[in-house]
Amino acid sequence: MNEASFIPQSYKSTVDSGSFTWESPSNIALVKYWGKKKDQIPENPSISFTLNQCKTTTKLSFSKKENDDDFSFDVFLDGEKKADFKPKIETFFKRVEAYLPFLKDYYFKIETSNTFPHSSGIASSASGMSALALCLMSLEKLLDKNISEAYFTQKASFLARLGSGSACRCIEGSLVVWGNHDKIEGSNDLFGIKYPYEVHQNFNNYQDTILLVDKGKKQVSSTVGHNLMHGHPFAQERFKQAGQNLENLIDSLKNGDLDGFIKIVESEALTLHAMMMTSLPFFILMKPNTLSIINKIWEFRNETGSKVCFTLDAGANVHVLYPEIEKETVLKFINNELVAYCENGHYICDVIGLGANEI
Ligand code: DP6
Repeated sequence: MNEASFIPQSYKSTVDSGSFTWESPSNIALVKYWGKKKDQIPENPSISFTLNQCKTTTKLSFSKKENDDDFSFDVFLDGEKKADFKPKIETFFKRVEAYLPFLKDYYFKIETSNTFPHSSGIASSASGMSALALCLMSLEKLLDKNISEAYFTQKASFLARLGSGSACRCIEGSLVVWGNHDKIEGSNDLFGIKYPYEVHQNFNNYQDTILLVDKGKKQVSSTVGHNLMHGHPFAQERFKQAGQNLENLIDSLKNGDLDGFIKIVESEALTLHAMMMTSLPFFILMKPNTLSIINKIWEFRNETGSKVCFTLDAGANVHVLYPEIEKETVLKFINNELVAYCENGHYICDVIGLGANEI
């Protein structure tokens, strides 16, 4: 499969207007994507848990327009027109136009809302771009009734990737791999695939409690951070390490080896931030409270033998990961010891989920 596989032949059907609504979850990477080549091709493979509660709902309404000169659309967040969202979507439309040649034939109204607060510091680009990609695929399916379910899912992920890399891992659940890896059958750089191997029941309903340490806008966007991996002194070793970590994770997932899992996941989180701290220019996205939480988690694990661990995305918030059987004790620990480090005491309880749904 290559990019050309997603360029459609001429459409047999026509449609004047209508609408589709999809909800798509966010995801949290266990092995991180950090560094990319041209056209949103990742430098290394990554794997993530799909989330369940943190999601975006997007309604795409479309109506045929007179001319096909340019893209025509408006974006609304929680019912409010958002002109500042337009450039990102315009860039997305330009990137996917070759694969969705109908884009300039319609006026689109894009109405979106997130389950998580807008200013929570949780990135909405992954869930948002994947929800939009799915709506566009629903429209393409009206124009070409022969599109198979597999093609629909793969192309939705492929399109989402062109909006935001990690968005390609939101379509399915509960574990998704993106980026070519020799040991993972079907893995490729173009779209995310469902993790194809056995996963031990220890990981069923794995919990993710997101501690909102800093709800402000990040000082450095992911896109800028990815670019700083070009010419980064440790880049090549890092890309190799990600591949090795993903390979090692296969055994931990199969055997339910939670200690092995924790070692890989926490090392990945810290390496991601180490890459930021050793970029030129260097930057730090963790806050003092991020480190306090990490130390508290390590202390708790040492004292109780719990299998709780942490991961981070490109920000100060902490994702606390733990098995379902520890739900009660870890939530108690969070409430007693970690809430104090969260902005206004806020956190979000999530669990791994199964992917996007049409509404
Ligand atoms: C640290 O997918 O947000 O969350 O492709 O530039 O939109 P763009 O970047 P993005 O980067 C995500 C980085 C990460 C790690 C990960 O999710 O794998």
